[in-house]
Amino acid sequence: MPDTAPMLELRDVEVRFDLKRTNLFGAALQLRAVDGVSLSLQRGQTMAVVGESGSGKTTLALAIARLIPVTTGKIRMGDVDLLGLQGESLRTHRRHMQFIFQDPYSSLNPRLRAKDIVREPLDRLSIGSVKSRNNRVQELFEQVGLRQDQLRLFPHQFSGGQRQRIGIARAIASSPSLVICDEPVSALDVGVQAQILNLLRRLQKDLNLTYLFISHDLGVVQHMCDSIAVMYMGKIVEQADPNIPIPRRCCRPCRQRTQIVETGGVAQPSLVIRRTRSICRLAVALLHAVHLWSISAGRICPI
Ligand SMILES: Nc1ncnc2c1ncn2[C@@H]1O[C@H](COP(=O)(O)OP(=O)(O)OP(=O)(O)O)[C@@H](O)[C@H]1O
Ligand SMILES: [Mg+2]
Repeated sequence: MPDTAPMLELRDVEVRFDLKRTNLFGAALQLRAVDGVSLSLQRGQTMAVVGESGSGKTTLALAIARLIPVTTGKIRMGDVDLLGLQGESLRTHRRHMQFIFQDPYSSLNPRLRAKDIVREPLDRLSIGSVKSRNNRVQELFEQVGLRQDQLRLFPHQFSGGQRQRIGIARAIASSPSLVICDEPVSALDVGVQAQILNLLRRLQKDLNLTYLFISHDLGVVQHMCDSIAVMYMGKIVEQADPNIPIPRRCCRPCRQRTQIVETGGVAQPSLVIRRTRSICRLAVALLHAVHLWSISAGRICPI
């Protein structure tokens, strides 16, 4: 794979969910959670996906990881067509692409010891011999800052930050090239957030990882990312440089505006949705212009 080729490339990706009919003779409804998303992520880089709650960030991440079906579009990872993979080829390709979940409490199996949680992907993907897997788990514990005497503990015997370290160790166990992080620090307190973010950055440097980093927190995004994609109602409405701050109002929760409901396959966003969307875009453009003017006039320093 040439180095200049993007690590991840999406073209017009769409994910629809079937909704229940309101009555027996009612039209079939679909929710278009991801709506024609195209983006490209270079090897070794971090792209943030930000957007208000319900804008489709997690759905997009799950679609890329092939954990939910994609309705239409193309997803390529290097020279592999991800949507063309099925069965065994999909299973073996999973070692190259892993997921770090938001909630370090519910994402770990409470019945397994920490060493078995981290070992699980190695077992499932049959990576290395049994002995080498045990050694690898010990090495991973060291890499993520956990002690060897914690190998045999259960998840409830760890703090939130330590649990997220277990999640990270599990994610990097199969030596993936792409790691999708779905709000990996939002359930942690600020001090622990900084430790986990620094760990992620160190691992990225040491292991040449590529991150797709979902977050609500623009401070976190600026600390971590090389580029930002702003999602709104299932679409990427803007791609930006993290050094140009995005107005915080864009990430404000507003779930009721996120639903574009289709009837019989034809998109029918209501007038309210369309108007709100263009007002938001106009506001974003205006705030950017004011911010750039303030920087150039020396009134404020860029963060
Ligand atoms: N399995 C599903 N079936 C039906 N609708 C779904 C399903 N999963 C997600 N949705 C809907 O898709 C939309 C996008 O949800 P998603 O979880 O991707 O948002 P999000 O941007 O990750 O939000 P948050 O920031 O709160 O995590 C929401 O309106 C949600 O209700
Ligand atoms: Mg989400």
